[in-house]
Amino acid sequence: MRNPSLIGRVILHFETLESTQDVAIDYAKKGEPEGLVVVAEEQEKGRGRWGRSWFSLPSKSLTFSILLRPPFSPKFSPYLSLFPALSCAQAIEELGIVCGLKWPNDILIGNKKVGGVLVEMESRGEKIEWVVVGIGINVNLEEVDFQGELRETATSLCLTLGKQLDIQELLQDILKELNEKYYLCLSEEGRGKIRNMYEERDLLKGEILEVILGKGQTLKGVGEGIDERGFLRVRVGEDIIVFPAGDVHLLKRENPRKI
Ligand code: BTN
Repeated sequence: MRNPSLIGRVILHFETLESTQDVAIDYAKKGEPEGLVVVAEEQEKGRGRWGRSWFSLPSKSLTFSILLRPPFSPKFSPYLSLFPALSCAQAIEELGIVCGLKWPNDILIGNKKVGGVLVEMESRGEKIEWVVVGIGINVNLEEVDFQGELRETATSLCLTLGKQLDIQELLQDILKELNEKYYLCLSEEGRGKIRNMYEERDLLKGEILEVILGKGQTLKGVGEGIDERGFLRVRVGEDIIVFPAGDVHLLKRENPRKI
């Protein structure tokens, strides 16, 4: 029987942390059961995927990490990226905003990023020891708050809706979605539902994209959705190539969504 409030059964709030990830990982290593949530008003060294930093401001950003101990094989680990991004998108859509998802876990409004998910985990053989999912959402950031490249690439809920939002309320809405979607990750049928819901928001499907392979190498192709393992499918000529993880750039957007 699922526990409807497993994620968020304990919520630790901090004024200032270097990163909520570090605190959640410390708890994970000390044996804390799954469901712990670590929230920070301010992060001094917030980190994103691929060694990037994550920009956030106190009272304007939602930054938190959750500790999970999923009882399934690491082969399903791509879902640990997909389900949090989907949960955030659905909570944001409740506000009347149309959201898109860029595989595996970027949350976009139009072609600008409003949130991101960072998954850090440790597994031993066929057992996932712990997973820490870090979520950052640009809630009340204004135009002047974004500097440099972020001016072109990032947005916030406040900029989209034209009004400030209650960050704690948004956290509760996202936790509710996370609990529902985490439960779905545990069964094949549930994972199918996650894939369907994800694909409705998949910004890469049918689009020309570039997968960064590392060492300066890239691969260009057309997004073909995600497979049953949660891998990205890319059509290159006649072939379909799948990626279990990676950094993807959307090169050309043919199918714009409403926002
Ligand atoms: C990304 O899009 O690159 C992922 C961003 C993840 C940011 C969140 S904010 C809360 C948690 N703590 C961190 O240091 N990072 C994640």
